[in-house]
Amino acid sequence: MRHRPHRVFQQGELILKIAIGTDRGGWHNRFAEAVANRIPCRPGLEYGIVNLDRSDWVGSVADADLVIWKPPYMGHEFAGYVKEKIYFLERHLGKTVVPGFETVWHFESKAAQSYLLSLAGTPSPRTFVSFDYDESDGQAGREEYPVVLKSSAGAGSVNVRAIRNRDDLLGFLRRTFSLTLWDRTAASGAGRLSRLVSGFGRDWFSDFLRRRRRGEQPFGMAYWQEFIPGNDADLRITAIGDRFATGFWRRNRPGDFRASGSGRLDYDTPVPHEAMLMCLDLNKRFGFDSMAYDILFRDGDMLISEMSYGYSDVAVHGVAGYWVFESPGSLKFVPGHTWPQELWVDWALIKAGRAAEGHAPGE
Ligand SMILES: Nc1ncnc2c1ncn2[C@@H]1O[C@H](COP(=O)(O)OP(=O)(O)O)[C@@H](O)[C@H]1O
Ligand SMILES: [Mg+2]
Repeated sequence: MRHRPHRVFQQGELILKIAIGTDRGGWHNRFAEAVANRIPCRPGLEYGIVNLDRSDWVGSVADADLVIWKPPYMGHEFAGYVKEKIYFLERHLGKTVVPGFETVWHFESKAAQSYLLSLAGTPSPRTFVSFDYDESDGQAGREEYPVVLKSSAGAGSVNVRAIRNRDDLLGFLRRTFSLTLWDRTAASGAGRLSRLVSGFGRDWFSDFLRRRRRGEQPFGMAYWQEFIPGNDADLRITAIGDRFATGFWRRNRPGDFRASGSGRLDYDTPVPHEAMLMCLDLNKRFGFDSMAYDILFRDGDMLISEMSYGYSDVAVHGVAGYWVFESPGSLKFVPGHTWPQELWVDWALIKAGRAAEGHAPGE
């Protein structure tokens, strides 16, 4: 690992060179504006915009102490490349990065998030995650229906659906675990041709062939949650570092249990402070730079169903203000529509200051 460069101070402030990575949605322009606005009262800040998609991305951040980057694409595959770059920036180049690896390693993986939420003892819908066919098959037999079946990646509810009965879930499991079931036909001792012929009689076989044709290993993954009834909206809390939080409600699509992606934002219903405090506490505990939490309710109790560092800046800007964590249990309201990029920059400066003092994220 490379060591942090020696830092100099100007008028008592750390000189901080900031590289701002470009993205498709223009977040970099708002980051740059936010940094520029802070320079008059925060001498020592310097910034430049860099394209981290280019082959020379490492050279482009060589002089930077702090990298702020809202990666440009969603999806599981690109998220993998982002995680690699952020790991490399932090661990091998010694940069402070927002969002850092703690924030991104579980992005586009509801499975990975479930490990963290479970570790923290966070109230969540009961969640089953397995890569084992027999275990999943057995669990399907014990469930009460409906359950909420999700792919590990995805946003806007596109990979989320209710499964109403056991047969439907078992059918899904056969299709997703088609490689396991194909492997089992080998155990019968039959030749490949007769295995293929017998395969055509199975409901999972066409899925197996399709995924094989695409060059995939059709391994299985099961993720589902108990269905939490009675929610006609979910509560979206956006927490930035261990310092800033804001929230709004998202109404379900008409006649549907799903809120995410409905576009029916509700800024009028008050946001419970304990929800923001819980999310800030999780950010602190896990060293998250920015996290959007989806919260459902059961008998008035909060349940976090998932989280993601990526979200719509316009939706957050629509809130009439944000809250600053002042002391345990206490939030101060700051009125005015605020772009999350401003809060990312304020948090990034706090994080870089702490890093210069030798604190690891979350300390
Ligand atoms: N366990 C659950 N019980 C009831 N409704 C749920 C549950 N999990 C998710 N939902 C609803 O489905 C929506 C989409 O689920 P979510 O896990 O947030 O997926 P996405 O990543 O697509 O946003 C949520 O906004 C919520 O309204
Ligand atoms: Mg969601």
